[in-house]
Amino acid sequence: MGAMSERKPLIVGNWKMHTNHLETIQMVQKLSYRLDLADYERVEVVVAPPFTALRSAQVVIEQDRMRFGLGAQDVFWEEKGAYTGEVSASMLAKLAVGHVIVGHSERRQHFGETDEMVNKKTRAVLSAEMRPIVCVGETLEERESGQAEEVIVGQIKGGLARVDAESVSRLSIAYEPVWAIGTGRTALPDDAGLITEIIRETVSDMTNSEAAGSVRILYGGSVNPGNIKDFMAKKNIDGALVGGASLDPDKFAAIVRYWI
Ligand code: PGA
Repeated sequence: MGAMSERKPLIVGNWKMHTNHLETIQMVQKLSYRLDLADYERVEVVVAPPFTALRSAQVVIEQDRMRFGLGAQDVFWEEKGAYTGEVSASMLAKLAVGHVIVGHSERRQHFGETDEMVNKKTRAVLSAEMRPIVCVGETLEERESGQAEEVIVGQIKGGLARVDAESVSRLSIAYEPVWAIGTGRTALPDDAGLITEIIRETVSDMTNSEAAGSVRILYGGSVNPGNIKDFMAKKNIDGALVGGASLDPDKFAAIVRYWI
């Protein structure tokens, strides 16, 4: 499998349903004051505001030549048509969105997203030449009944079905145990290390070891400046998907600088 050094760490701020477009501009500016060139050289930094703020974020990032990337929190798989309320991958690509979060557990839980839908979204994002961040994770009940591994493998197999090896190498997978999201409770780094190893093995079985070696696997779930280092120390963890703490520019910048 590819050496770890080939995978540039990726830290993504998932702002969820926070920040209108004006607040987004302020957040982006505050973050850019706190990071410098050396940080971006070491880590790929992405922020994912709500759809309504993407255009404003794009403009400010381009005008001020900021170095972080723009992400979206969801997408619909059809290209265009009578799908009231939905946003297509090509619409996002036009806004210079580079990464799209797909299958976040909140979407699975509140909006009934299935692995099949996650798969359609993943393939739509890849067709539009963006990078999906495919989220997987078990619930507390599944963990306590010893099913975590099986659930994760099923979500990976379903979510990445019919995606060829070359495309797989462009995506990221976020392991986010549902019980650790927004709860202040994190997985133990050792447990996350084990699951992320299983994720990479599953991807390898589905494609090949080279593709699996280039997939970036992120940990998500109550990541903060105090715990990021322990997760990043794990061999198969290449970054983080950060919710709550990404809304605080000081905390998010400290997470980006996890090695300090
Ligand atoms: P959290 O959210 O960091 O607030 O737990 C993570 C996520 O849902 O992506």
